[in-house]
Amino acid sequence: MIRTSALRETPTLTGKSVRLVPLGPEHTDAYFAAGLDEEVRRLTGSHGHITYQQARDWCESRAGRTDRLDLAIIAPRDGRYLGELSIYGVSPENETAGYRIALSAIEFTGQGLGREATQLVLEYAFEQIGLHRVWLYVYAFNMRAIAVYRSCGFYVEGRLRDALLWEGRRHDALLMAVLRGGTRGR
Ligand SMILES: CC(C)(COP(=O)(O)OP(=O)(O)OC[C@H]1O[C@@H](n2cnc3c(N)ncnc32)[C@H](O)[C@@H]1OP(=O)(O)O)[C@@H](O)C(=O)NCCC(=O)NCCS
Repeated sequence: MIRTSALRETPTLTGKSVRLVPLGPEHTDAYFAAGLDEEVRRLTGSHGHITYQQARDWCESRAGRTDRLDLAIIAPRDGRYLGELSIYGVSPENETAGYRIALSAIEFTGQGLGREATQLVLEYAFEQIGLHRVWLYVYAFNMRAIAVYRSCGFYVEGRLRDALLWEGRRHDALLMAVLRGGTRGR
């Protein structure tokens, strides 16, 4: 069984270039602003816009959940908000969960931040929460994300044809997953 206390007692995870802290009300402005970035919206296939009130409600309601873990990605040096990630859809019986990550602006991408954040949270997911399998969906055109996930141990397990309709064109999504013990040596 998994340790739900490792979900409830939200951790702070510190790496070289990123710190992962509990997503909370203090992140509302940055979380809302990230939802307006057009390129991030395309990469994550986000059709709708959230309102400021929805962003606030979301950030205020993250603490104490035992079915998911929502963390803000912060620059350790100056505390700048860089994005957010989630372990969600936790199935305690199966010891599985989903993963998603989005840096908040394209200017933050390509610097190794996403890889470091993913490695940090996977280590926590496997070693502290006790998960066995972490899965995700990524659009087939998102080569940067796929490269990062592969380097963190994820394998492609399937293809969801025409899963996204974006500005008149359809795109496939890939199902990827990593198993406990599969993150090392890659
Ligand atoms: C996806 C995301 C988390 C990756 O994090 P990142 O910090 O930008 O990525 P990194 O800098 O750690 O690594 C990028 C890697 O992708 C590779 N890459 C970049 N563009 C590529 C391309 N077109 N084809 C193949 N590889 C590519 C880089 O070479 C690098 O690998 P390397 O370090 O081995 O050379 C981040 O870009 C992001 O949040 N983007 C916006 C939202 C998004 O796409 N979320 C994912 C939805 S599934």
